[in-house]
Amino acid sequence: MSAVGHAPGKVILVGEHAVVYGRPAIAVPVWDTVATATIEECPAGSGCVIIAHDIDAQVELLHAETDNPLALVVRLTLEKLNLEPNPAWRIEVSSDIPIASGMGSGAAVSAAIVRAIYQRAGADASPDDVSRVVYASEEIHHGTPSGIDNTVVSYGRPVWFKLGEAPEVFETGQPFMLAIADSGVPSPTRETVAGVRNRRERDEAAYLSWFDEIGEIAHRARAAIEKGRMQQLGELFNRNQELLEQIGVSTQLLQRLIRAANRAGASGAKLSGGGGGGNVIALVTAETAKPVADGFRAAGARNVIVTTVGSD
Ligand code: PMV
Repeated sequence: MSAVGHAPGKVILVGEHAVVYGRPAIAVPVWDTVATATIEECPAGSGCVIIAHDIDAQVELLHAETDNPLALVVRLTLEKLNLEPNPAWRIEVSSDIPIASGMGSGAAVSAAIVRAIYQRAGADASPDDVSRVVYASEEIHHGTPSGIDNTVVSYGRPVWFKLGEAPEVFETGQPFMLAIADSGVPSPTRETVAGVRNRRERDEAAYLSWFDEIGEIAHRARAAIEKGRMQQLGELFNRNQELLEQIGVSTQLLQRLIRAANRAGASGAKLSGGGGGGNVIALVTAETAKPVADGFRAAGARNVIVTTVGSD
């Protein structure tokens, strides 16, 4: 019998960069891109092999380095469930979440593996159990991960995040749609974060007030999402984008994509994640989703995903 686990991608809705300085941020799952893990039984004694098609990796659990993130996820989950340390399994992982684009693909792959193992063991995987293991695998990639990615992909719900506090899952008042455009340019988060830090040192007062306003936007955005006030959420996206431009993480291409989305009828649009490249998100409706997606493509987007947040 085979077992299977899934996990979604994620985007940051509002609050990126200011979140590094203690202001809140909101991230949401993107269920239209998923990571999937399946487990097939193999002949007894053959041991556990993990195959990740997208990154061309084949890992034998017994011989994997301790810092191999895929092996770590499997080991921690086997341990947690008191299963034998090297079961005769073939674990196959695939994902259509864009890699290294701020959509949490690594975290989602880890979460899918944890869920598949729980299912194989006939155990219920609580989001918290999944999140803990995913966080440990994120530590290998990112050193000190913020905790956003593991929480969003494990809970599959919008998450309110503030440094030093436990992430909070919250509900949408009504489902809403996002069009997500991949600019095709990598978003080097480490570099954009360092850039903001340098510029802030030269102009602390201005950055303090911009971060404060972004934090305020996150509070208002959460209230707008919980009450289903989409027009207001769109306006908050636009203002958040202006502030991201002020702190120097937007680019001409990202702004071209944002203008195209707003011209095509989006309720608001902004960059999402570290900036410098990466993704742009636009708040859309069933009517505006297609024109906005077309507008994104005409303005140079490499790929567009339309997703609904808050419908299960
Ligand atoms: O690139 P992403 O989606 O992982 O987002 C980075 C968000 C920042 O606020 C810029 C950095 C961080 O660690 O929160």
